[in-house]
This record gives sequence, structure tokens and C-alpha cells, in this order.
Amino acid sequence: MKAARIHRYGGNDEVVIDEVAELQPGAGEVLVRVTAAGVNPVDWKIRSGYMSSVLPLAFPYTLGCEMSGSVMAIGEGVSEFQVGDIVYGYPNLMRSGCFAERILMLESELALAPKSVSEAEAAAFPVASITALDGLFTHGKLQAGERVLILGGSGGVGSAAIQLARAEGAEVWATASARNQDWLRELGATPIDYALHKPAEIVRDVDLVFDCVSVQSGIEALPSLKRGGRFVTSVFGLPPAELFEQFGVRSAMYGIQPSVSRLREIASRIDAGQLRMSIEKEYELSDVKQALAASEAGRTRGKLLVRLSSN
Ligand SMILES: NC(=O)c1ccc[n+]([C@@H]2O[C@H](COP(=O)([O-])OP(=O)(O)OC[C@H]3O[C@@H](n4cnc5c(N)ncnc54)[C@H](OP(=O)(O)O)[C@@H]3O)[C@@H](O)[C@H]2O)c1
Repeated sequence: MKAARIHRYGGNDEVVIDEVAELQPGAGEVLVRVTAAGVNPVDWKIRSGYMSSVLPLAFPYTLGCEMSGSVMAIGEGVSEFQVGDIVYGYPNLMRSGCFAERILMLESELALAPKSVSEAEAAAFPVASITALDGLFTHGKLQAGERVLILGGSGGVGSAAIQLARAEGAEVWATASARNQDWLRELGATPIDYALHKPAEIVRDVDLVFDCVSVQSGIEALPSLKRGGRFVTSVFGLPPAELFEQFGVRSAMYGIQPSVSRLREIASRIDAGQLRMSIEKEYELSDVKQALAASEAGRTRGKLLVRLSSN
């Protein structure tokens, strides 16, 4: 079978489509025929070595950290899944490996895929949606009636966050460039064009800022928070602690972990019509370098997918 792997850190030239041995599920493992894999910024951050201090890898390493597909075989002790089930999920990043025709997942990294989207589309949800859910509610403590400012509202995490915040009954502002202003409105946010305005020129006294862009964007958004407000970032890095003291706000940075309960919650929210994902483009496995380059350019609206099979 084919897999997109790196044998050392570097640019897209280091990504090779290798022919690798077929996999057999061990105890607690599920062998999945991958239908599609979502592309995430963490894929090229891992490829480049940017994450190596927190995520030491064993090479060769198969890139790709979320997927959907059908169960081909189950290992001893697996009780939740049967051959033929359509599943979605994300593996621990130390193992990862979704840009491959087949993958071994732990039972604890998978759930049944949502029924109201296609098998391939399901691959676009796990990482961005769970990052949004954890950022807004676990760390951000967002409640109905509160005001939230989402930085990077047109990306995978931000577009999921707008919808989840609206479903909770929050009032939402979000930043994006000119081309995405209508898209933000459609999702339910009051848009802010970051090329024209600093957030505080448009909105103040928000309860929560959720940063999905960069440390610099976070710094620029701090004046929008009310005193006693919360700042949560999905980005690797926080603004300086003195700024949080100066503005009188609490801060949190976090990373998501595989979670069956989160996958189930996301699937039920999708099937309840609370959450959708725009797929900007699909790539074949042979074009995975282009997919990574497009993600790295930082302009993705919603998500990019890599297609592994035609289901
Ligand atoms: N903590 C975790 O466990 C975790 C999990 C997932 C993701 N993340 C991180 O969360 C961040 C967001 O991920 P993602 O998948 O949503 O990224 P993404 O989909 O690649 O984000 C692309 C979007 O960012 C927007 N953007 C770029 N510069 C902007 C700016 N200055 N202000 C506002 N929007 C801007 C772009 O909109 P325009 O084209 O309109 O500029 C584009 O729609 C990344 O840093 C990622 O690594 C962390």
C-alpha cells in the first residue's frame, strides 16, 4: 500500500510516496481503509521539524492526522466496531499516519462517522471541530449570551468555532480578509476585515477571545476584551504574561488529544445540523505536496482533503 512519509525533517521535497507493508491489527487495534484525510497546519509544522521539541518522532513517519474510512479488520479485544463500519477519528500525533491507503488506529481514537455528510467529508471534522469545542468551552468557558471574538474565522478551527459558539447562544465577531467577509456572515458572525481594522475598532467588551491565527493577532485583539475576560489560543505560543496582567484577563493555551466522547459529540452536532465544513479542495495522494503547500500558504477557507479511495 502507499503512504506519504518523511524520512527526516525539511520542506515538501522530503515528502515521498512510499510503498509500505500491509498492516495487521494487533490487540485493541482497528485496521481502516482510509477514504480521505483532512489536511491541517500541524502536518507541515511536523514535516518542517517545528514541533520536534514537543513531539519527537521516529522516522520514517507517515504524515496526516485525521481521517475517515471503513473498518477492514479488528484486533483482539475490539468491541465497539465491526468490519464494514464507517468511522472517523484522529490518531495520537506520535504515531499519526492518515495520508496512507490503510491505517491502524486504536479503538479509543475512532467513532462512527456522522451520517449526514459523505464518507470523505467526515475526514474534515475531527481536528478542527474538537479544537474549536475544547477552545470555546473546556478552556474558554463560553456561555449563552456572552460575546466572543474569533481570530481566523474562515479557517478550519475558526469556522467550526463560529458555528459552535452560535449554537450555544453566544454573540460572535470574527476576523478574516475581504474575500471571506460574506462567508463569516453566512456562518453567523459579524465580520471584521483584518486588513482594514484592528478588532477593538469594531468590537469591545468581549468575554472571550479565541485566537486561531498567531501570537501577533492575539496581542492586537487584547484591547477588545473586557476586564476579567478570557483569552484562549489554539496557536503554539501565547502573548507575554505582562499584557494579560495589564488588560486584566486570564489566558490558556492547549493541545487536543484523541477522544472518543468528543468524536461522538461532534458527529451528533453535525447530524443535528449545528456544524458543517466547507471543503475548499480535494487532492490525490500523489499531489499531497501541493496540499501541504496550500495549507502552509495560510489562506484555506474551511478545509483541504487528501483522497485515498473513491468511496
Ligand atoms: N492546539 C491544537 O491542538 C490545535 C489543533 C488544530 C489546529 N491548531 C492550530 O490552530 C491554528 C488554526 O488552524 P486552522 O486549521 O484553522 O488553520 P487554517 O485553516 O489553515 O487557517 C487558514 C485561515 O486563516 C485565515 N487567516 C490568515 N491570516 C489571518 C489573519 N491575520 N487574521 C485572520 N485570519 C487569518 C485565512 O483567512 P484569509 O484567507 O481571509 O486571510 C484562512 O481562512 C493553526 O495555528 C493550527 O496549527 C492547534
